[in-house]
Amino acid sequence: MIRTPKLLMIPGPTPVVRSIQDQMGRETVAFGDAGFIADFKGLVADLKAMWRCDGEAFVVAGTGTMAMEMAVANVTRRGENILICSHGFFGDRFIDICTRKGLSADVLKAPWGTIYTPEQVDAELSRKKYAAVTVTHVDTATGVLAPLEAIGDMLKKKHPEVLLIVDSVAGAGGAEAWMDWGIDVLFTCSQKAFGVAPGLAMLWASGRAVGKRRAMETIPESYFDFERWIPVMNDPSKYWGTPAVNMIWALKEGVRLIKEEGLEERYARHVRQAALFVSSMEALGFRTAAAKESRAPTLSIFFYPEGSGLDDAAFRAKLAEEGVQSAGCLAEFAGKGFRLGHMGNIDKHVLVGTIASVERACIKCGYRVEPGRGLAVLQAGLAKE
Ligand SMILES: Cc1ncc(COP(=O)(O)O)c(C=O)c1O
Repeated sequence: MIRTPKLLMIPGPTPVVRSIQDQMGRETVAFGDAGFIADFKGLVADLKAMWRCDGEAFVVAGTGTMAMEMAVANVTRRGENILICSHGFFGDRFIDICTRKGLSADVLKAPWGTIYTPEQVDAELSRKKYAAVTVTHVDTATGVLAPLEAIGDMLKKKHPEVLLIVDSVAGAGGAEAWMDWGIDVLFTCSQKAFGVAPGLAMLWASGRAVGKRRAMETIPESYFDFERWIPVMNDPSKYWGTPAVNMIWALKEGVRLIKEEGLEERYARHVRQAALFVSSMEALGFRTAAAKESRAPTLSIFFYPEGSGLDDAAFRAKLAEEGVQSAGCLAEFAGKGFRLGHMGNIDKHVLVGTIASVERACIKCGYRVEPGRGLAVLQAGLAKE
């Protein structure tokens, strides 16, 4: 039987291209190796410059959840107030992290599929003195994009003392965010829009965030402490925790590809690809959980068409047989639709292959879509690229 790799279209990990895989397969060297030290230093410098960071950038072994905890740990003190702005499962994850740390957390929630406005955030922040606010750039459970730049502007004008922590795990490298939008801690991880395998967290801290950490003298967390990592990030010949040598090379190659494409063009490509991808799915009768104005360019939740008779588990199993790995929806959306990523190092072939597989899976599951209906929309758009 001929077996081609299945397209990895879940919202992370995303497809890992050959040149990145090659870096993971290299012979591992000592972390004191001069060539590795130079590679690591260059990677951190690139991340800092590319995201317009006036403070420090960090590359640390761990997942996105670790980065969430690391962000909170370094800029808040036990007992301080924090506002958590949540529009989904991952926004809510901050509640546990913050309350375990002994912060007093208030939550501004947007119903799933919708987003809060900067005015609502402003109103919440005006009620009491907050040390920080968290925003989830793209919630992976809803496919909704937060109005990050507008929130940053509002904070600069109205609440300049409040630190802005941004979870851009499903955004950075695919959905626009820059530190000079007024962000104090931004973080993501390797397996999403950077197109690298899971294993690394990347964080950017503004000069002000680094200053707050310094002003606290010590924090209870050790592995996460910015002060432990800053000397290593500035001079990777120093040691704090063993760097993930091959993953750092893989990320360096991922960043080289981003630089080659251009970060601004990469963001524009994601917007174009997402619009086409969603239109193709809409032509097949699917609709997104997010309204058009707040759709993420990196991933979408597609609700099953009414009357299609599609059963979630059966449909996704068939889709996998047809060559595409997808993810189920979470919590209140579970069973109503499925999730597809459209971020990172994906090209026209991947998009065409995915829509073609969705069409076959629909037909094989008894939902009679006209073969080629979604593809026609996609191809017409891609031909103009
Ligand atoms: C927005 C967001 N934040 C945090 C996380 C947690 O990341 P990880 O699973 O790598 O711990 C995820 C995971 O998908 C995510 O999408």
